[in-house]
Amino acid sequence: MKVLVLGSGGREHALCWAIAKSPLCKKLFCIPGNAGIKEIAECKNLNMKNFNSIKNFIKKKKINFVIVGPEEPLVNGLIDKLSKFKIKAFGPNKKSSILESSKSFTKDFCNRNKILTANYKKFKNFHDANNYIQKVKFPVVIKASGLAGGKGVFIIKKKIEAKKILNDLMIKNKFGSSGKEVIIEDYLVGEEISCLSIVDGKNYIPLLLSQDHKKIYENDKGPNTGGMGAYCPLPYIKKNIVKKINKEIIEPTINAMNKEKRNFNGILYAGLMLVKNKIYLIEYNVRFGDPECQPLLFLLKSDLLKILINCVNKKLNKTKIKWKKEYAIGVVLANKGYPNKFKKNNLIKNLNLIKENKNLKIFHSGTSLDKKNNIIASGGRVLTVTASHKNFNNAKKIVYTAINKIKWANSYYRKDIGYRIKKLK
Ligand code: AMP
Ligand code: GLY
Repeated sequence: MKVLVLGSGGREHALCWAIAKSPLCKKLFCIPGNAGIKEIAECKNLNMKNFNSIKNFIKKKKINFVIVGPEEPLVNGLIDKLSKFKIKAFGPNKKSSILESSKSFTKDFCNRNKILTANYKKFKNFHDANNYIQKVKFPVVIKASGLAGGKGVFIIKKKIEAKKILNDLMIKNKFGSSGKEVIIEDYLVGEEISCLSIVDGKNYIPLLLSQDHKKIYENDKGPNTGGMGAYCPLPYIKKNIVKKINKEIIEPTINAMNKEKRNFNGILYAGLMLVKNKIYLIEYNVRFGDPECQPLLFLLKSDLLKILINCVNKKLNKTKIKWKKEYAIGVVLANKGYPNKFKKNNLIKNLNLIKENKNLKIFHSGTSLDKKNNIIASGGRVLTVTASHKNFNNAKKIVYTAINKIKWANSYYRKDIGYRIKKLK
């Protein structure tokens, strides 16, 4: 069959890489893709906001199955649009994507469905929010309710910083309409877990647990990013905790979404905080995480395309997923300055010196080709160097040895991805 993947990140490169291996896939397309994806898929540079042109492209190329990578087209209703034209596509519809598009909805959803989440208050007015922070105990977490590419969450230690952030979000509209409503919630201290499940509306299959590193600097310092590195599975999470996550968070969410007529079909990504033995829901995403997707798919033994098709056809009860019994780790290389302003379009040299194999793969995100067909670093996050091994430290060694070979003038990466494994053992 002919398959289309939408998106341009490391996540979409990993999706394309896994789908290209499927015997079911005869031809692979990607909109818009990147320099790495170009090597395995036919890329087309269309505006992801223009649903009509995407639909026309699908019709023209006689594409049979579509996978939507990022959140924006999902929350804007691309799946709904494609289903009107009888095009099979993987991802939740607009109504159920609200779990990611509105943190305000999700917090209230958790409360009415008894899903544990940090205590919070919601504000639509700067003065009310500012009055509230006069009397709270710090640190607090201030969040833009809408989409902000992982950058709309601020951990605030002092009153004066809180006022500035509220001003940026609610008066200066730094994140546009996404920051018009803010959530102010209790700061939780614990172990963060990314729990992704594939959900067909009724049945679900949990993927391996993974852990992202959201802060830009080592030891989890500095501002939040989309994610600077991830690994899976998590050796320190015991089976009883996995059970608890499914019983207390995932199943109640799927059931409550059905009760509220928001039947969820796609990837349900629960961002969790394990505080002692309590599991809190921090946020929901409605798609694969980036970079979690890269190490996860690197360990997947089963045919991804078949799994995604079974999900859309609501046949997950007949689906089994097999994993390599190894650890995988993905380290993100970004342009220095990200998540704020950065210089771009420097050449990335020596990628050809790195021999990819069953234990090593470089997934591209913000890469493109210059006029001479050289690979340049055109985005914030640029590469995810991903490796696997039976021994976690060996996987880490493979990743950082490969990274050391890459030469690019403005690169930045964290050298401590996976450091919490040691801390927790
Ligand atoms: P979110 O987009 O809501 O997942 O927030 C982004 C990141 O901010 C999370 O992955 C956490 O690292 C951090 N964070 C969000 N909410 C809290 C909280 N209540 N307590 C501690 N850290 C938080
Ligand atoms: N890695 C976090 C996210 O994809 O939202």
